[in-house]
Amino acid sequence: MSRLVELESNGPRTLDPADIDDEKGDVAVCQCGLSESFPFCDGSHRRTDDEDAETTYVYEDGERSVVERVVTRDEE
Ligand code: FES
Repeated sequence: MSRLVELESNGPRTLDPADIDDEKGDVAVCQCGLSESFPFCDGSHRRTDDEDAETTYVYEDGERSVVERVVTRDEE
């Protein structure tokens, strides 16, 4: 599975001690691209549990769609 993720930031997010989870004592960084609290994991990755390994998805406005084909600049 893969996901198309659209990001708008053009700089880093610096973590500080306040970012540490009080209960778990760690910082969970989102790697799925779906978190509403990006760059932190908020559990939204659970929506990807049933994704197919060979399919590319896009999540938009709470809906999941399948992307049929992604054309990259190298393919033009
Ligand atoms: S890894 Fe993205 S929300 Fe948890």
